[in-house]
Amino acid sequence: MKLGFVGVGRIATSIIEGIFKAKINIKEIILSPKNNTNSKLLKKKFKKIIIAKSNQEVLNKSNWVVLSITPKVGRQILKKLKFNENHIILNFISTIHNSELKRIIFPAKKVFKVAPLPMIKYNLGPIIIYPKNKSVEKFFSHLGEVFSTNDEKENKKLWVMTSFMATYLEIFNTAVKWLQNKNINKMRSIKYLSNLFKGLNHELSVNYKLNNDKLIKDFQTKGGINEELLLRVKKLGVFKNLNKSFEKIYFRIKKN
Ligand SMILES: NC(=O)c1ccc[n+]([C@@H]2O[C@H](COP(=O)([O-])OP(=O)(O)OC[C@H]3O[C@@H](n4cnc5c(N)ncnc54)[C@H](OP(=O)(O)O)[C@@H]3O)[C@@H](O)[C@H]2O)c1
Repeated sequence: MKLGFVGVGRIATSIIEGIFKAKINIKEIILSPKNNTNSKLLKKKFKKIIIAKSNQEVLNKSNWVVLSITPKVGRQILKKLKFNENHIILNFISTIHNSELKRIIFPAKKVFKVAPLPMIKYNLGPIIIYPKNKSVEKFFSHLGEVFSTNDEKENKKLWVMTSFMATYLEIFNTAVKWLQNKNINKMRSIKYLSNLFKGLNHELSVNYKLNNDKLIKDFQTKGGINEELLLRVKKLGVFKNLNKSFEKIYFRIKKN
C-alpha cells in the first residue's frame, strides 16, 4: 500500500504514529507539503515517509488517499485536484459526506468516511467506518476498535459522540483545578484523578452489557456524597443540556 495524506495536522499525525506503532506493512507514506513542521518531524522519525511537492503529487504517488483537512479547505482545494477511479479515499472530514465528496473528486468513487480519534496513536479508541469494506476494516482493525456500518444515519449518530472528547477532558480538568485551588499539587491531583477515571472506565468496559442506571446506583450510597453531587449537578440541568447539545451537533452533522 502507498498511503497518501492531504493534510498533515493533528489527526493525520496521530494515525501515522499509530501505523508505525502497529507495524502495519506499508510501502510508503506520502505527505502533503503543508503543514511543514509536522511533516518534517514525521519524516525524521520514520524512514518510509516522503514529503510531496504538492497535493497533486500525493495523489499521483498513492493508491490509498487520506483526506485530513478541514471542511473549508476541502471545499476550496479538492475540486482542483485530479483523482483516479482506482483511488481508495479515506474521508476524515466531519461535515463533507461521501455523496458530496464523490461529486467533487470524480472519477474516484471508492470513498469511505472514517472517524479516527487522537488515541489512535496508541492503537486505542473507536474508529467509525462507512460504508463497510473488508480491506478498509482490516487496515483499521490494527489501529483501534472498528465500528463499521452500511447505515449512513447510524454513522452520523456515532460521529456526534466524537464531539464528546474535549468535554469529557474538561470535566477531568475542572476536578484537577478544584484540587489545585485547595492547594493540592498539580501532579498529585492529576495522578489521583487519572486513577479514578481509569478505574471507572474499566468498570464501564467490563460492565457494558449491564444496565447503566443500575451501575450509577451501585456507585452511590444512600444519603452519601456521590448521591448528593449527582443530585446537585442534575438540578443544574447539566445532563439535560448535554443531551440538547448532542442534538445540536447531530443537526450540524446531518444538514451537510
Ligand atoms: N482531530 C480529531 O480528533 C478528528 C477526528 C476525526 C475527524 N477529524 C477531521 O479531520 C480533519 C482534520 O482535523 P485535524 O484535527 O487534524 O485538523 P488540523 O490539525 O487543523 O489539520 C488540518 C491540516 O490541513 C493543513 N492544510 C491547510 N490547508 C491545506 C492545503 N491547502 N493543502 C493541504 N493541507 C492543508 C493544515 O496545515 P496548516 O496548519 O499549515 O494550515 C493542517 O495541518 C477535519 O476535517 C476534522 O473534522 C478530526
